[in-house]
Amino acid sequence: MSASVIDGKAFAAEVRGKVAAKVSELKDKHGIVPGLAVVLVGEDPASQVYVRSKGKQTVEVGMQSFEHKLDVGTSEADLLALIDKLNTDPAVNGILVQLPLPKHLNEDLVINSIAPEKDVDGFHISNVGRLATGQKAMVPCTPLGCLMLLRDHFGSLSGKDAVVIGRSNIVGKPMAQLLLRDSCTVTVAHSRTKDIEDVVRRADIVVAAVGRAEMVKGDWLKPGAVVIDVGINRLEPTEEGGKGRLVGDVDYASAAEVAGAITPVPGGVGPMTIACLLANTLTATCRVNGLAEPEGLTA
Ligand code: GUN
Repeated sequence: MSASVIDGKAFAAEVRGKVAAKVSELKDKHGIVPGLAVVLVGEDPASQVYVRSKGKQTVEVGMQSFEHKLDVGTSEADLLALIDKLNTDPAVNGILVQLPLPKHLNEDLVINSIAPEKDVDGFHISNVGRLATGQKAMVPCTPLGCLMLLRDHFGSLSGKDAVVIGRSNIVGKPMAQLLLRDSCTVTVAHSRTKDIEDVVRRADIVVAAVGRAEMVKGDWLKPGAVVIDVGINRLEPTEEGGKGRLVGDVDYASAAEVAGAITPVPGGVGPMTIACLLANTLTATCRVNGLAEPEGLTA
């Protein structure tokens, strides 16, 4: 079997198109312009790239982008004061504090100081609890993107056996919650799971989010399984001065021989994350204004 390729890049462009159309409608009918504030502390190069990309795409869909770049030595009190200001600013509908934060800042404290209704990352403890108990929540962007790709592929996920590999708060745990909410039978596998290959081999849906390059091999998969690869790992460069190749947590070549469908790296889940951040900002804007939520853009 040769797997069909799930084109996350094209799907993300579709999501952004839907967001842009709804933003334009909000402007025309209600005079509302959604606003997203992104806070970056320090100069981590990867974070700078993400933040730039977020700002650019926010403006492209017609939203307002507010960027707050703070010095690496910013105190916790100053960061909390900024978040407080954004919490009460009516022009700001979504707040994202780029992680990781410098070591001297308490990440949990900072995230939990964001107003839950503006927490477009879905990391606030209240949104985590809401998702786990089936209440209306803001849902973390990467798992939301994976869910959208899976729903698009299958239609209904009801009754599917799903294995999530990885138990992080950002991807693994919320992904498991979302799949459970869509009536999958969910197993969360991790570094201590016994006979992980056999566990994965039972799955109709495999979501790999462990951060280990090419860990999941084709012979771990049930023929026809749908594979969502969240990993982005850079291999060692093969030639001097070159950059190493980007690969996922799945060994694409062998997995594509067995899977029914698979996301590539790059161009699979990656582009969905920012598209879902914009979708979440739109959702937050609709909720705070008592308007109907955008269809197909929420969990
Ligand atoms: N750093 C890496 N991924 C993310 C994300 O999804 N949200 C935030 N806030 N920081 C990140």
